[in-house]
Amino acid sequence: MRIKDLDQLKVREDVFDEITLLALYKMVNKGWISAIGGSISTGKEANVFLADRKEEQVAIKIYMTRTANFQKMQNYIAGDRRFINIGKTRRDIVFAWTRKEFSNLKRALEAGLAVPKPLVFDRNILVMEFLGEDEIPYPQLRVAKIPDPAVVYASLMESLRILWQTAKLVHGDLSEYNILYGGGKAWLIDMGQAVTPDHPHSIIFLRRDLEQLNRFFSPLCETMVLIEAMRQVTGIPHLPENAGTELSEA
Ligand SMILES: Nc1ncnc2c1ncn2[C@@H]1O[C@H](COP(=O)(O)OP(=O)(O)OP(=O)(O)O)[C@@H](O)[C@H]1O
Ligand SMILES: [Mg+2]
Repeated sequence: MRIKDLDQLKVREDVFDEITLLALYKMVNKGWISAIGGSISTGKEANVFLADRKEEQVAIKIYMTRTANFQKMQNYIAGDRRFINIGKTRRDIVFAWTRKEFSNLKRALEAGLAVPKPLVFDRNILVMEFLGEDEIPYPQLRVAKIPDPAVVYASLMESLRILWQTAKLVHGDLSEYNILYGGGKAWLIDMGQAVTPDHPHSIIFLRRDLEQLNRFFSPLCETMVLIEAMRQVTGIPHLPENAGTELSEA
């Protein structure tokens, strides 16, 4: 469907509220996107669409101001020094979240990691590189055919190490849903919640991310002992055994 049919889009799909429509119009007027294609994913927090931008295909992620989980968003934003002066309304928080995902992806990309290249954002809309081939998105890791799981596991460990030590980020919601597999490698996506290592809960998030990774890979290949993985990723050789557990918080 062409973008000039935005009014039809509004009728067809109730995901586009007034703010989103305005932001989309603005993006078209500025030439940031030229057409919206099919839906890639519809979720609770966001919808992802295929779109055209000049000659290339892009993915556009639209955060829904009505249904997003604000409490969760606020918890992640609260400890992040990059986002101290944002407003308090639902919209303010969703807009800040969108900006946060853009900035997180940019930092990860600059550190050389396999993430979708962020292209532009406005309000609750993020435009990024489309990860896929012939309009088909790469599959999530949970359904992908992985020829050599040990190699992919090791590459993800290395990605998390670079994410922490160079990009200065911890993903915070890592799972086989937020990793795409295609073109021979694993891509980290969905980085809105990623926080810096100085966030008060960064070690808790890291522990959980690595637990998720180990849970998924342990039936497929040999995995690292959790605390060893945490030490490798952070580069802190004496990180205490219970770091990031409730006990360590007491
Ligand atoms: N750049 C991209 N290229 C191709 N597919 C993508 C891209 N970004 C996201 N997707 C697809 O859309 C799905 C949802 O994206 P994402 O994980 O970023 O949103 P989400 O925050 O989890 O949304 P919700 O929580 O509402 O499901 C992904 O699992 C992936 O399949
Ligand atoms: Mg996701």
